[in-house]
Amino acid sequence: MKVKATVLVDNYAFGINGVLAQHGWAVFLETDQGNYLLDTGAGKIIVNNARVLGVDLDSILGIILSHHHHDHTGGLLEVLEYLRRPIPIYAHPGLFKDSYRQQNGGLLRNSGIPFRREILEGKGACFDLNAAFREIVPGLWLTGAVPRTSSYELGDPKSLVRQGEGFIQDPLDEDLSVVIRAEGGLFVILGCAHAGIVNTLRYAMQQTGETRIHTVFGGTHLGMLGDAQREESIRDLKAMSIGCLGVSHCTGMKAAVRMAQEFGDRFVFCKVGAVFEA
Ligand SMILES: [Fe+2]
Ligand SMILES: [Fe+2]
Repeated sequence: MKVKATVLVDNYAFGINGVLAQHGWAVFLETDQGNYLLDTGAGKIIVNNARVLGVDLDSILGIILSHHHHDHTGGLLEVLEYLRRPIPIYAHPGLFKDSYRQQNGGLLRNSGIPFRREILEGKGACFDLNAAFREIVPGLWLTGAVPRTSSYELGDPKSLVRQGEGFIQDPLDEDLSVVIRAEGGLFVILGCAHAGIVNTLRYAMQQTGETRIHTVFGGTHLGMLGDAQREESIRDLKAMSIGCLGVSHCTGMKAAVRMAQEFGDRFVFCKVGAVFEA
């Protein structure tokens, strides 16, 4: 199908007056099968940015949440208050789990969705939670939980969940990505790629039978992990047929620069207002 995706919330904004940046991620998706919103940023800027960019948030048929982290779900309440109507919300069943992030000095901060389910349902949220690879409209899939098949994409040791009296690393099973079958290959939008960008792309190719990646963009989380993992990911990404690689959000500047070196003209640095089409 034909698709156009506009970045509404990202860590970076430049070149467009009036939009705001924050540590967060949201993408407006226009397809032959209707418009969707992927993630909502951390809160307080998505409605402003949509207005400045001339994006019609009112037109969306549903909201997809890539995972539970507050920088992707924190704008959900204001989007619901803006829409003022019932709206399907597609995510993994782990959306409301309790989780934490280890900050400098060992302090723990709650990192999950900052609203209670009942509050969101009272504002029109109709949750459709599923862990499977599923097609929500013809040609548009959600990966659901992504199998960890690479040996080196080991997740983020600073993301934690409670276990008994203590904490263990959060496996972030609920991390999902959007996969669209476009002319020329798959069009893949990542949230944070906590499941691993290589794992995610391999799973998308396996499930759809398509071996070409027309475009993949979003947060890669590579900037939050070690240099060794970043280099292994880059090596395996280069072995794939990728037409366009756009990174931002949790990628970080150092990892983005490395990817720009390796992917040359196929690399795009995402920012608020960036548009990807297929
Ligand atoms: Fe995240
Ligand atoms: Fe994130």
